Amino acid sequence: MKKYLILLLAIFMIILSSCKENSPIMVHIIPQPESVKVLEGQFIVNSETKLIVDSEESFLAAEYLADQIALYSNIKLISYKLDEIDRSKNSIRLIIDQNGSDLGEEGYKLDVEDESIIIKANNAKGLFWGIQTLTQLFPADFYSEQVRLTTLSIPNIRIKDTPRFKYRGMHLDVCRHMFPVEFIKKYIDLLAMYKFNTFHWHLTEDQGWRIEIKRYPKLAEIAAYRDSTLIGHYRNKPHKWDGVRYGGYYTQEEVKEIVHYAAARNITIIPEIEMPGHSLAALAAYPELACTGGPFRPATLWGVFEDVYCPKEETFDFLEGVLTEVMELFPGEYIHIGGDECPKTRWAACDACQQLMKKEGLETEEELQSYFIRRIEKFVNEHGRKLIGWDEILEGGLSPNATVMSWRGTEGGIAASQQGHDAVMTPGSHCYFDHYQADPESQPLAIGGLTTLKKVYHYEPVPEELTDDQAKHILGAQGNVWTEYIPTLEHVEYMILPRMAALAEVNWSRPEKKNWDNFQRRIKHHFKIYEALGLTYYSEIIE
Ligand code: ACM
Ligand code: ZN
Repeated sequence: MKKYLILLLAIFMIILSSCKENSPIMVHIIPQPESVKVLEGQFIVNSETKLIVDSEESFLAAEYLADQIALYSNIKLISYKLDEIDRSKNSIRLIIDQNGSDLGEEGYKLDVEDESIIIKANNAKGLFWGIQTLTQLFPADFYSEQVRLTTLSIPNIRIKDTPRFKYRGMHLDVCRHMFPVEFIKKYIDLLAMYKFNTFHWHLTEDQGWRIEIKRYPKLAEIAAYRDSTLIGHYRNKPHKWDGVRYGGYYTQEEVKEIVHYAAARNITIIPEIEMPGHSLAALAAYPELACTGGPFRPATLWGVFEDVYCPKEETFDFLEGVLTEVMELFPGEYIHIGGDECPKTRWAACDACQQLMKKEGLETEEELQSYFIRRIEKFVNEHGRKLIGWDEILEGGLSPNATVMSWRGTEGGIAASQQGHDAVMTPGSHCYFDHYQADPESQPLAIGGLTTLKKVYHYEPVPEELTDDQAKHILGAQGNVWTEYIPTLEHVEYMILPRMAALAEVNWSRPEKKNWDNFQRRIKHHFKIYEALGLTYYSEIIE
């Protein structure tokens, strides 16, 4: 009997150990790909591994991968052209193959198999996203400063992947607080890691103008600096200020560098130049563009201000001059013109505004705002670009080709798509990463709200009300980072990590591939990556 028991135990142990050997290796890819099959075995990247490319475009993707690997490890990879090399063992091949593939504009296939890694895509965009998936398969300590790995093991795996939405955005307000060029690049790197393809750069505000415009030097001299910054929350009265002059701006050279950096990472930047409201800093520099003539100072309080651009010819000349330089710097198709939170009190009391309304047959100040945006849209369209604005641009009638960014809930997105316009969903309820991510008692000061990781994860960008045809106008979702209460770059990191990872999965992964429990497992691995990279993040997961 004892013999049998020992035998049984031995058999049990053998089964257990073989199970362990065969248990699939866990991978932690975010956003979850369309299909993943983990296979037995692994590929080892070492300094002998060859990068093999088939075109100029795949060469650039290979150089990016080689640079990333060299930055974090002791492995230096060299690229070879496909026809220069006859062996495919120990190689990473990057192939652009447009023949009959269903990978679309941004999809890719990644095959890792003992002796080779192959990433295939229809174009460079797909290759780049494939590389992001590959680097997520590296060990987490790859990114650590303390270790310089000499080999990287990657599980054998077969992945096919395409995005659900074509617009996957993150926004950053650099006006309420400003961040160095190096941080903007780091932010762009995080977008790339999570397969976001759009960076919405909020460049002008009441509290500061942050882009050099050569035609209008007073924007850099005057509009870029405020006298003081509010201490504590706006709701805490009496208000207190720090008394410290604050500001700065990005030079055109810096902007070009950032645009180039983003483009090399598959990311288009949408610049935002706010009008007609949120323009007090510009009016401080050029008070003649306001209804009353000023004088004004860049705002030292948060909120909404009554002094806005007066829709006179001089203002349109100014804004067209600004936009001309902006369009020279930013090659992307969209120009964001703000359009949100524009009080109409000054327009109602302004002779020039009232005369213009009479002349143009406009009944209300909302229609005057519409007239304003239509004129700007015409200018932007004439220069081959598309206008995008916050959902207030729907009020008083939407201009002919505009895309709407739905922030006051989903209504703006619904109305826009029902009118046949494109919309980007960024409702405050799910997409505002300036909101608290846990009990305010446990958190640094924030503007308000409560948007947990789980809430972001469960966001569905296509409103139920829409028909299938209307739903096609929902381009995707965007996370917004307003920085009134986010003064440091570490704090920006804390607010977006890990919530942007959840939004990445909302934007990229099909709903049937999403799974909250599984996401929690994967995000914990990403915490290790954040730690290795020295990023600040919020690590509690609230059910
Ligand atoms: C916004 O949050 N005012 C667009
Ligand atoms: Zn006016």
